[in-house]
Amino acid sequence: MDKILEIKNLTKIYNDAGGEIRVLDDISLDIERGKFIVFIGPSGSGKSTLLNLIGLLDTATGGSIMFEGKDILRLKEEKRAKLRLSKFGFVFQFDSLMPDFTVLENVNLPALIKGKNNFGYARKLLAKFGIVALADKMPPSISGGEKQRVAIARALINGPKILLADEPTGNLDGERKEQIFKDFALAASEGLTVLMVTHDIKAADYADECYKIADGKVNRI
Ligand SMILES: Nc1ncnc2c1ncn2[C@@H]1O[C@H](COP(=O)(O)OP(=O)(O)OP(=O)(O)O)[C@@H](O)[C@H]1O
Ligand SMILES: [Mg+2]
Repeated sequence: MDKILEIKNLTKIYNDAGGEIRVLDDISLDIERGKFIVFIGPSGSGKSTLLNLIGLLDTATGGSIMFEGKDILRLKEEKRAKLRLSKFGFVFQFDSLMPDFTVLENVNLPALIKGKNNFGYARKLLAKFGIVALADKMPPSISGGEKQRVAIARALINGPKILLADEPTGNLDGERKEQIFKDFALAASEGLTVLMVTHDIKAADYADECYKIADGKVNRI
């Protein structure tokens, strides 16, 4: 098995006024390259927390995450930022587009941050998701489902190794939703590793593996 991620004894504890919340409790999990993996679980079970830890947007309380042979939780911030930009693509749970930039500029943004505009590929990605006609619009004037597709295109602009998608189909209707699941399955068959959080059990029809997150544990279903 070509493991792209090896998660070992990962623990995340939050401390607040009411005491400690053990959101992820000593979880271990191997992720194979080129798979479409789905995580399902109740609200508050730690799904976003897990994706944010893998994507280096948050720090763990304990454990390790090996990515291509390196423990990424122990890297210095500069290296983490570099990895985030070039190896990971993010689709966030809540709207994260820049309202003062056009759709096309939003998709291009991670390329620009990396140092080089890639408007040609940005357009191709918009076309792939059926929204190239929106290229010059501003995000506040497009629908929620359209925004989600822009966010997916943006996540793919730098050719990531891993796509982390947190409820990417929340605002989409049935047909659009299934199209995204199909796109993710296809991208995975071409070598991208896709980790997706969803409440939609229909995703299981398209995924290679499904996991349930509950009570701090992650179990294969
Ligand atoms: N910064 C924080 N400080 C304290 N507790 C937090 C913090 N962030 C998240 N939590 C708590 O951790 C738990 C897991 O949150 P998380 O956002 O990972 O859940 P989720 O499974 O993504 O839920 P949803 O389906 O509603 O998006 C929740 O109980 C939440 O209240
Ligand atoms: Mg969440």
